[in-house]
Amino acid sequence: MKKIVTIALGTLMVAPMLLMADMDRCVSCHGVDFELKALGVSKIVKGMSEKEIKAALDGYKNGQGGPMKELMIAEVNLGVDTDAMAADIYSETITPGFDEPSDEFIFQKRLSVRTLDRLKKSIKEADAESMPKLASQIKAMAFTMYTYDDLLKEKVDFKAMKANETKLTKSAILEKVSQVKRCVDHSFAEEEIVKCRVDFLALAGSMTRDQEQKIKAKSKAKKPPIYTGEGAVDMTKYLK
Ligand code: HEC
Repeated sequence: MKKIVTIALGTLMVAPMLLMADMDRCVSCHGVDFELKALGVSKIVKGMSEKEIKAALDGYKNGQGGPMKELMIAEVNLGVDTDAMAADIYSETITPGFDEPSDEFIFQKRLSVRTLDRLKKSIKEADAESMPKLASQIKAMAFTMYTYDDLLKEKVDFKAMKANETKLTKSAILEKVSQVKRCVDHSFAEEEIVKCRVDFLALAGSMTRDQEQKIKAKSKAKKPPIYTGEGAVDMTKYLK
């Protein structure tokens, strides 16, 4: 079953998968650990901080850079987003050798990064009216995630999920989703990314619990008042 789903998704996403496959291409100019001056022109990326790398990528995204910027503008535009790309590149610079995660993992990660990035944008743009729809979308995403990820199933404990003490505001939801996105950006193995997914499920879970409580409170409020004091008629058999 899992195999079929992967293949179906794969066919659907062929174009992005080919474009974003991995960083194999970069090493021919930058070196295996980004330790070279690419084409004699670039800075040596190894030794740059993740922040500096992101700034360089954002520069290319905005059309700025050195004499050979056109080349890198093309590369950056193939990437997922500069947060994830900078995290990937930085990780390469501190991991010796050409030891990349599997294509399957990279594909899954890129898919998550894209989805979370889009979700973040939608939350930012959402108003009071569209927020409930987004909340359902988050829950649906979490459900799909859970259904297809066996490792995640092992790690998630629904019973431990609690309703929030205060109502989750739009900015609180955005912060949680951003946190999950940062977590995914910085995951380079299945065991790492699953932790981010657990956090995402916890968010969806707490949203669901909130709702559950609201529904319970509502249904309680609608019950006719029943006298239960001394001399009260036993109504239990009518209340089933
Ligand atoms: C054909 C050679 C080539 C390839 C392939 C290439 N780069 Fe570059 N890269 C360059 C050059 C040249 C520069 C400097 C461009 C300029 O003038 O701004 C550069 C600059 C950079 C910089 C900024 C460093 C600086 O000088 O400020 C980063 C980060 C970077 N590349 C990452 C990557 C990544 C990641 C990939 C693969 C997805 C990649 N590059 C693929 C040649 C290449």
